[in-house]
Amino acid sequence: MAPKFRKLLCLSATLCVLLCTSSAIGSEGEALLKWKDTLLNSTSLSSWSRANPTCSWVGIVCDEATGYVNELDVPCSDLSGMLDAFSFATFRHLEIIDLSFNNLFGAIPTNITLLVTLTILYLDSNDLVGAIPYQLTKLTKIRVLGLRYNQLTNPDAANFSVSPSLQNLFLCGNKLTGTFPLFILKHTFVGLQKLHLSRNALSGLIPENLQDIAPNLLHLDLSSNMFSGHIPRSVSKLTKLYLLYLAENNFTGGIPAELRNISGLGHLDLSRNMFSGGIPKDLGELAILHDLNLSWNMFSGEILKELGNLTALGTMDLSWNMLSGSLPRFFSRMQYMLSFDVANNLHLGGNILLEEFSNWTYVMLFNIANNTFTESINPDFCQISTLEDLDLSDNLLSGLFPGCLWNLDWLVYMDFSRNAFFGDVPTSTVDTSSLEYVHLSNNNFTGFFMDAIKSSNRLLSLDLGGNKFSGTIPTWIGISFPLIRILLLRSNIFHGSIPW
Ligand SMILES: *[C@@H]1O[C@H](CO)[C@@H](O)[C@H](O)[C@H]1NC(C)=O
Ligand SMILES: *[C@@H]1O[C@H](CO)[C@@H](O)[C@H](O)[C@H]1NC(C)=O
Ligand SMILES: *[C@@H]1O[C@H](CO)[C@@H](O)[C@H](O)[C@H]1NC(C)=O
Ligand SMILES: *[C@@H]1O[C@H](CO)[C@@H](O)[C@H](O)[C@H]1NC(C)=O
Ligand SMILES: *[C@@H]1O[C@H](CO)[C@@H](O)[C@H](O)[C@H]1NC(C)=O
Ligand SMILES: *[C@@H]1O[C@H](CO)[C@@H](O)[C@H](O)[C@H]1NC(C)=O
Ligand SMILES: *[C@@H]1O[C@H](CO)[C@@H](O)[C@H](O)[C@H]1NC(C)=O
Ligand SMILES: *[C@@H]1O[C@H](CO)[C@@H](O)[C@H](O)[C@H]1NC(C)=O
Ligand SMILES: *[C@@H]1O[C@H](CO)[C@@H](O)[C@H](O)[C@H]1NC(C)=O
Ligand SMILES: *[C@@H]1O[C@H](CO)[C@@H](O)[C@H](O)[C@H]1NC(C)=O
Repeated sequence: MAPKFRKLLCLSATLCVLLCTSSAIGSEGEALLKWKDTLLNSTSLSSWSRANPTCSWVGIVCDEATGYVNELDVPCSDLSGMLDAFSFATFRHLEIIDLSFNNLFGAIPTNITLLVTLTILYLDSNDLVGAIPYQLTKLTKIRVLGLRYNQLTNPDAANFSVSPSLQNLFLCGNKLTGTFPLFILKHTFVGLQKLHLSRNALSGLIPENLQDIAPNLLHLDLSSNMFSGHIPRSVSKLTKLYLLYLAENNFTGGIPAELRNISGLGHLDLSRNMFSGGIPKDLGELAILHDLNLSWNMFSGEILKELGNLTALGTMDLSWNMLSGSLPRFFSRMQYMLSFDVANNLHLGGNILLEEFSNWTYVMLFNIANNTFTESINPDFCQISTLEDLDLSDNLLSGLFPGCLWNLDWLVYMDFSRNAFFGDVPTSTVDTSSLEYVHLSNNNFTGFFMDAIKSSNRLLSLDLGGNKFSGTIPTWIGISFPLIRILLLRSNIFHGSIPW
């Protein structure tokens, strides 16, 4: 055996004796205990004691070969205290820290820069204050920086230049102010994939040249800030985008037709802005779009038939706009729909042909309230057996109440109020215990159907007012509806007394 190799073997043997046997609590363990001692609540760290080897402590993962601490993983553990006493210098092999969802307060110590091997840092949902330390930028291997939901302020932009290794930057729910962060605009981040800046107080425009800075972005979340201006056409050059969230800002203008170029877009949320104009037919080309939320804007015009090509949609929320015209028949092809909301547009209308939607085998929410839809409900509609929320209120719907609706096992919310339905509501003896809200007010319903809801023992609200229901109010309603908070029977031909 070559002498050099033997020497090496020896050395590593000595090293192992030192690390593995001489003391269960090495310098890393001592440093962790020292930090634990400064915490106000460390109840969840009871295994951190000299009686146990460091690598067996809760939340500690060591490298099997070297015995060094690789991971510090104690999220959601009621840890209360500061990071100041954490001896970052001691840890030369730490790759992952997850201390999110604790009660850590104070600033992020600048010494964190000493963790040169760190790749993932999660400090989300604590009470950390102060500027995001620019020293974080010295972490040359950092891939994920999660600092969401703290009270952090802008970093020293001049000295902050995120490492090119960074892939995911999560800064939602802090106190960032000013324009789109300069420290991001300074460099090109070929590796940056997820940029989440929602719930801060950022303002100004979306930069025109984002595609030069982060050409490979998958997520761009700017929601709940005070950004304004138009969506730049150049956003469509972020061709890898999967998620684009711009909700709750002050954006104006229309949706650029060029967005169709982002062929892999899965989630688009533009809700609660001041967008206007028509919904471009080009959006229909987003073949894998799963969530579309355009609610609470001023979009107008018709819903074009091309949108019927969005066959991968799971949620479509177009509520609270100024859309008009009718729903394109092609909508029935969106067979993976879970949640469909076009309420409060006032002028959407025409013949709704509800049976067209019987292909929607997964839909849970169907809301067309506050429009001018006409026509009656075809019993085919009851084939949507997954329905939980059905809101047809404030329309011009007429015809009979389809008794098959009582058979929907998951239906919680049923609102037919303020339409022109008429006739006897069929009674039934099936189990209707899922129902919590039954609102049939201001129609021309007749008859006596109460037995149908006798098993609705979770009922919270029953509004039958303004119809022509008749019969004796049954004494069992006091027993059958133990949770009821609202009972409106006014303007009917009921008699008897309310049994409470
Ligand atoms: C301290 O942490 C423990 C365990 O997580 C928790 O049950 C307890 O409520 C916490 N005490 C205080 C005062 O926060
Ligand atoms: C932080 O680093 C400085 C110098 O680099 C050192 O003096 C100080 O003791 C360190 N603090 C902690 C808590 O490790
Ligand atoms: C930040 O950078 C500027 C020059 O770019 C330098 O003068 C200043 O000292 C730096 N700030 C700190 C805290 O290092
Ligand atoms: C949105 O813009 C309008 C006028 O352009 C302004 O009055 C309003 O304060 C802005 N709102 C926010 C949250 O920035
Ligand atoms: C993007 O859209 C524009 C205009 O709609 C079009 O001219 C251009 O060819 C598209 N670019 C790509 C890369 O598809
Ligand atoms: C769409 O956005 C609005 C407002 O931001 C929100 O209240 C609503 O829940 C969203 N719709 C869906 C289906 O998530
Ligand atoms: C739907 O897409 C197909 C191509 O996939 C296209 O031929 C058709 O015109 C589109 N339909 C509508 C209504 O835009
Ligand atoms: C229901 O879906 C099938 C294919 O899944 C399709 O052939 C049929 O036309 C659809 N029905 C309606 C009313 O769109
Ligand atoms: C109906 O929609 C209009 C327009 O969006 C809105 O102003 C009104 O408050 C809505 N009515 C109800 C009952 O929600
Ligand atoms: C109920 O019927 C009466 C008489 O047929 C009609 O005048 C009234 O407009 C109807 N009410 C509703 C809400 O449809």
